[in-house]
Amino acid sequence: MLTQNLPDFWEQFYTERKAYWDLKKATPALQEFFTHPSCPASGSVLVPGAGFGYDAEAWALRGHQVLAVDFSPTAVDELDRLSRKHKNFKSLDLDLFELSPKDPKKGGAQFDIVYDYCTFSAIHPGRRDEYLEVWHKMLKDDGIVIALFYPLAQGSTMKGPPHNMSEVELMARLDGVFEVAERIPAEKSIESRQGKEEFWILKKSL
Ligand SMILES: C[S@@+](CC[C@H](N)C(=O)[O-])C[C@H]1O[C@@H](n2cnc3c(N)ncnc32)[C@H](O)[C@@H]1O
Repeated sequence: MLTQNLPDFWEQFYTERKAYWDLKKATPALQEFFTHPSCPASGSVLVPGAGFGYDAEAWALRGHQVLAVDFSPTAVDELDRLSRKHKNFKSLDLDLFELSPKDPKKGGAQFDIVYDYCTFSAIHPGRRDEYLEVWHKMLKDDGIVIALFYPLAQGSTMKGPPHNMSEVELMARLDGVFEVAERIPAEKSIESRQGKEEFWILKKSL
């Protein structure tokens, strides 16, 4: 069965040019967030499920060392192209659940920042706790997760992707794993996402 746990599920959207989430540019809300005092000026950034890498490239253009991960061949081709364009941008063709700080072929380091946009909502909700564990193991102890959660809404259905998430669900999953250090409204969401997304800054629970 073809589920979103498999690269072929995503590759189909890319090859049929139906990648409905693709903004074709860096997320305006992220560009705005770069000017926020809570946005770190430096530090390495891991972008799991980077897609065509616009946001990952925006982090690189800001001077950060970036590792962009995806497992869909078309997305990885584009990430590879960006890695040839920017010295501080690396691409990795990998199922993000395989990421490991200890294995050089699977990330090989912990990061100062893990950035997520539309990957949390893309993976199957049944794997969300597992995905939080990936963030946790790939993050330095004093690092932060910057998650632009979308769609953050009390929906009547979890059908997706994107699968929605609610504040109550997130707080339950994060409990004991991450502290919510700050929540910052997204100022420049695209029209269809306005009021449905928010930056959450997470720190490892001690
Ligand atoms: C909805 S798209 C979002 C892409 C990008 N973050 C953006 O905002 O444009 C989800 C991406 O995650 C990738 N993805 C989903 N599950 C993955 C997994 N287990 N390992 C690696 N990449 C994954 C897909 O191939 C796809 O490119």
